[in-house]
Amino acid sequence: MQVLKHLFDTNREWATKIKESNPEFFLQLSNQQTPEYLWIGCSDSRVSENLLVGKMPGEIFVHRNIANVVVHSDLNCLSVMQFAVEVLKVKHIIVCGHYGCGGIKAAMDNQEHGLIDNWLRHIKDVYRYHQSRIDSFQNNEDKFNLLCELNVIEQVANVCHTTIVQNAWKSGHELVIHGWIYSIETGLLKDLNVCITNRSEISKVHQIE
Ligand code: CO
Repeated sequence: MQVLKHLFDTNREWATKIKESNPEFFLQLSNQQTPEYLWIGCSDSRVSENLLVGKMPGEIFVHRNIANVVVHSDLNCLSVMQFAVEVLKVKHIIVCGHYGCGGIKAAMDNQEHGLIDNWLRHIKDVYRYHQSRIDSFQNNEDKFNLLCELNVIEQVANVCHTTIVQNAWKSGHELVIHGWIYSIETGLLKDLNVCITNRSEISKVHQIE
């Protein structure tokens, strides 16, 4: 018995269409991947990295979790980063959040949500670091949007603080860390202008000699 038959049907059509325009596409991809980008994004089904920047399989290495959080001790995220940087030699790491993020919204309330509260607490920390700025807004929507942005900026910093990224810079690997945010309402990306290219741009206490 085949379940979810419609997905297999769609898959067959998709692969056929690609092979029609490039018969070697899958064969070439099977031999190697050379993505230039590592994308760290939210798991939200509406934020599909390949689709929204028009990339094909093989072009973006991906790590996604609830609210695109980079936790210092998350071996899953760190392993993805290590492989992307040290083996695949990606040139860019993009942390991409999105407005209307359910994870961020849940972190802003005082309800109990179960296991996920342990994850959302990292976002509450981001709120706490920037509390006076966020609370200077009266409107909850403005606070929510700002926290979505500040969370991206904080996670960009967390990426830069890893030994993975700092060792890459030390060895002369040109690696740029970007912070972007996506609007589900418009389908458009916005650059938060927090591009980091070397260790002198991160806080002193985090710089590794
Ligand atoms: Co989200």
